[in-house]
Amino acid sequence: MRVAVIGFGLMGRQIAQVFAQHGHEVKVTDESPVAVKSGLEEVAHGPYGIESAIAKAKMSREEGTMTLQRILPSSDLKDACGDADLVIEAVYELLPLKQEVFAKLESAASPSALLASNTSTLTVSKIGSKLSKKDRLLGMHFFNPAQVTKLVEIVKTSQTSKRVIQQAAKIVETIGKTPIIADDEPGFIANRLGLTLYMEASRLLEEGTAKINDIDLAMKLGYNHPMGPFELADFVGLDTRLRNLEALFQTTGDERWIPPKALREMVNQGYLGDPSRRKHSKGGYREFFKTTP
Ligand SMILES: NC(=O)c1ccc[n+]([C@@H]2O[C@H](COP(=O)([O-])OP(=O)(O)OC[C@H]3O[C@@H](n4cnc5c(N)ncnc54)[C@H](O)[C@@H]3O)[C@@H](O)[C@H]2O)c1
Repeated sequence: MRVAVIGFGLMGRQIAQVFAQHGHEVKVTDESPVAVKSGLEEVAHGPYGIESAIAKAKMSREEGTMTLQRILPSSDLKDACGDADLVIEAVYELLPLKQEVFAKLESAASPSALLASNTSTLTVSKIGSKLSKKDRLLGMHFFNPAQVTKLVEIVKTSQTSKRVIQQAAKIVETIGKTPIIADDEPGFIANRLGLTLYMEASRLLEEGTAKINDIDLAMKLGYNHPMGPFELADFVGLDTRLRNLEALFQTTGDERWIPPKALREMVNQGYLGDPSRRKHSKGGYREFFKTTP
């Protein structure tokens, strides 16, 4: 299968790597040539990249080399998508930007290609509102880091055809993941649940009911979550977390998604989460609350 990935940032590069590892040819494109260069570097040498997989004996050197050869940078949308069977959009979480990309896909992609967005919080039918043929529009929501996270949410709009959903579910299984199907409602399944937990954890902290460590430990030891809600927010990136909540609030108008003040403050001051995952970050929850009275 030929895959095109639009937007070669954090998620685009992970998604491209996963498909390439499973034998698919992946064309990638990004408006920023720097992102393409650093993305290829990260696929090869990043924490979940090819070299790391080889070092852990999860992949042979030959498989690694072939995986890298299957990821082909494209200079424009038409070149990237023209012969793709599946297009996955992973540009910034901004509705007008995604709408513009999908409007261009109308002519850039083959009429038979599945057109998927990796959006976390936006409404898929709005993203593809300018497409004339909407039965092939869907969400394919990968989780960070996609190389190891087993879940992919498949989002069906009221116009996505059954055939497309079945096709997408099969594709997800062929890359070693488990698909779950969600309606095109804000937050789908996983983020609606995950962000609810994060918002409640933030309330506990704001009220002074409990401290960061204890809240994280409650979920790790009491519920067997691998990370506590603040650890997970630092891992995902606090700027991403803020954008997700803002998008969810804008989409629903529901006040329960208004981002916590502390989160906004952290992002404004450059605390973007785990510095080993977010370049130039001053740190995450623990660092911020250490320096703020
Ligand atoms: N970060 C996460 O943990 C996560 C998890 C699941 C889903 N998502 C979703 O994935 C999408 C991408 O998020 P990300 O964290 O990878 O963002 P990112 O900021 O790391 O990367 C976005 C990339 O899109 C590129 N881009 C912007 N406009 C473009 C255009 N018109 N054409 C081509 N490329 C363009 C940018 O140059 C950048 O490299 C978002 O919709 C986000 O909600 C993110």
